[in-house]
Amino acid sequence: MSSVPPSAHSGDLDLRLAQNAAAIETLLETLLSDAPAAGEIVRPPRLVAAMRHGALGGGKRLRPFLTVETAGFLGVPAQQARRAGAAVELLHCYSLVHDDLPAMDDDDLRRGRPTVHKAFDEATAILAGDALLTLAFDVLADEATHPDGGVRAALVTSLARATGLGGMVGGQMLDLAAEGRFETARSALSDAEIRRLQAMKTGALLAASVEIGARLGGADAVALAALGRYGRALGATFQIADDILDVESDAAQMGKATAKDADQGKGTLVGALGLDRAKRERDRLSAEAVAALSGFGPEADMLRAAARFAAERKS
Ligand code: IPE
Ligand code: IPE
Ligand code: MG
Ligand code: MG
Ligand code: MG
Repeated sequence: MSSVPPSAHSGDLDLRLAQNAAAIETLLETLLSDAPAAGEIVRPPRLVAAMRHGALGGGKRLRPFLTVETAGFLGVPAQQARRAGAAVELLHCYSLVHDDLPAMDDDDLRRGRPTVHKAFDEATAILAGDALLTLAFDVLADEATHPDGGVRAALVTSLARATGLGGMVGGQMLDLAAEGRFETARSALSDAEIRRLQAMKTGALLAASVEIGARLGGADAVALAALGRYGRALGATFQIADDILDVESDAAQMGKATAKDADQGKGTLVGALGLDRAKRERDRLSAEAVAALSGFGPEADMLRAAARFAAERKS
């Protein structure tokens, strides 16, 4: 198909990201209110406060942006698209709360603020993560997200497969194993093993964020396949960029500790390839994501811009 049209300018992307982040924030604020939802008994104030700390007021909101932009160009009403976007963001926030725990990456700073276990305590952080995870599926399964129960079930399945045993959680297990903490002799992972680990711990949720938008919009098999290639390449780009920023950026810019991956023995492509080759690989994968959208026209420009952003981002 035709070559990539002149892309949306990064200024357009910044504006759309900010607008979407504000809309998602408003919805998350409602979902995380003190008042119990129908069928709930009571919402313990300390747990609500910890969930709000972990989910509100920060983050790039890239995953819901991908969901909303994909759904948007397929004609999905904004309110439905935003609910699906809020669900992927809730899932993501849970993953960060647990990723930062002392038993995991042991981090004190997230999104420029104390991590949830620092601001509250470890048990509360574990429960806040559990409840954010559960709420994500609650939001997807609700009639307000799509009138057709079959579509809602497909959304739930997409998110579950991407983020459970054979996806994000499995990837987190491989990430910890790569540190050598379960064996006495640590053997370095191969390039391919690192890519698989990263496709699971990070790529799967980013790809699912796109897929959920596509399924909400009733995308056909051809569009789903192209958007799947896009999402996986963007996901790989995103984690390599995170690993590069761990080396090249600082806590003030990132809102989280940096210069930790090598000390913790994390399996990263920076470690396997070195910084220069990792950067080339990041840029190659970003271009691969853009190329996957060649069958779409200007309606996919924001997704193209998001793939460039995943590589070029500074935080
Ligand atoms: C951080 O994700 C965790 C990784 C997968 C690298 P983000 O960089 O999207 O974090 P926020 O949501 O903007 O804080
Ligand atoms: C995070 O990877 C992946 C998930 C949270 C699932 P990292 O551990 O590299 O993320 P940061 O650097 O803490 O944000
Ligand atoms: Mg981690
Ligand atoms: Mg971490
Ligand atoms: Mg990291």
